[in-house]
Order: sequence, then structure tokens, then C-alpha cells
Amino acid sequence: MSFDTRDFRSALGKFATGVTVITARDGDDDHGVTASSFNSVSMDPPLILWSIDKGAYSLDAYRHAEHFVVNVLGNEQVDISNRFARRGEDKFAGIAIDKGLGDVARVIGAAAHFECRTWAVYEGGDHLIIVGEVLRYAYRNEGSALVFHNGRYAVPEPHPLMLDVGETPAMDGRLGRHLLYLMRQALAAYRGDFYPRLASLGVNDNEWRVLTLLADSGPLAADVLARRVTQPLVELEDTLAALSERGLLSMDAARGVCLTDAGQALALRLLTMADDYERRLFESLAENEADALKSGLGRVIERLGAPS
Ligand SMILES: Cc1cc2nc3c(=O)[nH]c(=O)nc-3n(C[C@H](O)[C@H](O)[C@H](O)COP(=O)(O)O)c2cc1C
Repeated sequence: MSFDTRDFRSALGKFATGVTVITARDGDDDHGVTASSFNSVSMDPPLILWSIDKGAYSLDAYRHAEHFVVNVLGNEQVDISNRFARRGEDKFAGIAIDKGLGDVARVIGAAAHFECRTWAVYEGGDHLIIVGEVLRYAYRNEGSALVFHNGRYAVPEPHPLMLDVGETPAMDGRLGRHLLYLMRQALAAYRGDFYPRLASLGVNDNEWRVLTLLADSGPLAADVLARRVTQPLVELEDTLAALSERGLLSMDAARGVCLTDAGQALALRLLTMADDYERRLFESLAENEADALKSGLGRVIERLGAPS
């Protein structure tokens, strides 16, 4: 059976994973590849696995490596994930590392490290499946790991149903007055209610972000766009291809990703829909309350600096 690759990838993207950088040493060279295919295999002996694309530049280094390290990335290491997902550049420049077993690089600040000896390498279609025996590991308790879901980076959150109702802080409690808590609750509720409405205009939330961002800022280079919509370049490319096929985008060598007239029209329609949604949401607020809310948040962003 042959599947449409993009659609198959979307289906696989329903399975949320963490993100790792797998490092190995080949002679004098350090190698590193971003991989979400990492998984546990066996407790005794302690085995893990991951798979590498046979088209990867560093395939041979991993196929023959005696040792490799799985660096499980933390929440704040999105840039490192993007760096090691690109081929051809000096991936380690400016990355803080130390050396583990077999002189293999360990990414400092990772949520966990698993230092492995290669146990077996299996054929797996267009990938090789690499099984490692864990010789040494370490992890940190503070901070949380980076998550990859639906083709986007995400942050792990406790499921609301898993919170002990007796312990759920009331909104009028101390936490209910805490800005971080309020913003997080408001964002989750807003997205949960608003995003499904996008389907009425035939777009998903990834497409919504690209279309409205381009309408707002004009053409952008693909790597800048990827950062702004928090998608890795390869996943963004799927979104861009889907929008181009529908005649909504064009790629301009000099200007980057541009909206076509049809794309511009759809983005304006989406923004109108978003304005209308917001207007109805704010109907329950007193006059000036919505403005105060927005200007207050604007000042928080100004004070802390917008995320890059
Ligand atoms: C979130 C994410 C997960 C990835 N998972 C894998 C994976 O499990 N295996 C793999 O071979 N490539 C994976 N990739 C793609 C590689 O990181 C990418 O192809 C990289 O360029 C390979 O490095 P190299 O060609 O320099 O060896 C992933 C990329 C991202 C952004």
C-alpha cells in the first residue's frame, strides 16, 4: 500500500513524543541529529531504540558508532532541536557540551542523558533502527521536557482531569490572582473554543498562524516564519506545500513566502472572523475592561521583551 507521505506524517503526528538530540563521535568529528523516534525497549538489560533516516548525512557515523548519547531536550531547548535538524552547518558551534563515554558529546542542560553502547542495528525500510544498551544515565528534576505533537513543539501540561478536584485552586484563591495561571487557563480555553471554528473556512490552526502572520507582516523568509509559528522548518514546509497547492501562497526567491491574492483574501476573512469572535467574547466584559486587559498584557510584553 502506498500512502500520501504528508497525510501519513500528519497521522503519525497524533502520537506525541519528546525530542532528543542523538550524538556520536566518528574519528575527530562530533555528530548530532534531532530525533523524536527515541523509545524505551527493555528494562533488563536496559535497552532503548531510535531510528535514523538512511538519507541522513551522518548515517555512517551512527551505523558504525560504538557509543552514542541520547540527549532528551528540555522545554527551553527548541533552538537546539532546530539546529540539529538542519544538515550541513557546524551544528555544535555555540552549543554547550561536555564529553561522556567514548568521548561522545553530551548537551549541557538537557532534561536527561542516556549514554549507550550500540547493541544492534536493524533494517527498517528507509530507516535503520538502532538499539542501544544504556551504560549510564542522568536526569534533572526541575524543568520539563520538550514535546512534539501535531508537527509542532509543545509544552507538557498536566491533564485537567488528572487534577485532584479537592486541590484545584478556586479562581478566587491566591493562584486565581496570579497572572501566569490566569494567562495559561485563558489561552487553553480560548484556543479550545476558537480553533475548531477555523474548519468552517477550511483551514487548520497551523495554516491559520501562517496566513494571518503573513497578512500582518508581509513576506517572510521560511526560517523566520518557522520561528514565529514555532514549527520546525520541515513541518512548516508541509503546511506551506498544502497552502501553495490551494493557490494561497507563492515562494519568491528574493522576498520569501508571500500570500497570493486568494491567500490575502482568505487571511482577511480569517482575521474578520477572529475579530468577530473576540468582540462576542468581550461582550461579557464591562466597557474599557477589554482595552485595559490588552494594554496591560502589552505592557507585560514590553517589560519582559517579546520572545524571539
Ligand atoms: C522534531 C524532529 C524529529 C526528528 N526525528 C528524526 C528521527 O527520529 N530520525 C531521523 O533520522 N531524523 C529525524 N529528524 C530529522 C533530522 O533531525 C534531520 O534530517 C537532520 O538533518 C539529520 O541530520 P544529518 O543529515 O546532518 O545527519 C527529526 C527532525 C525534527 C525537527
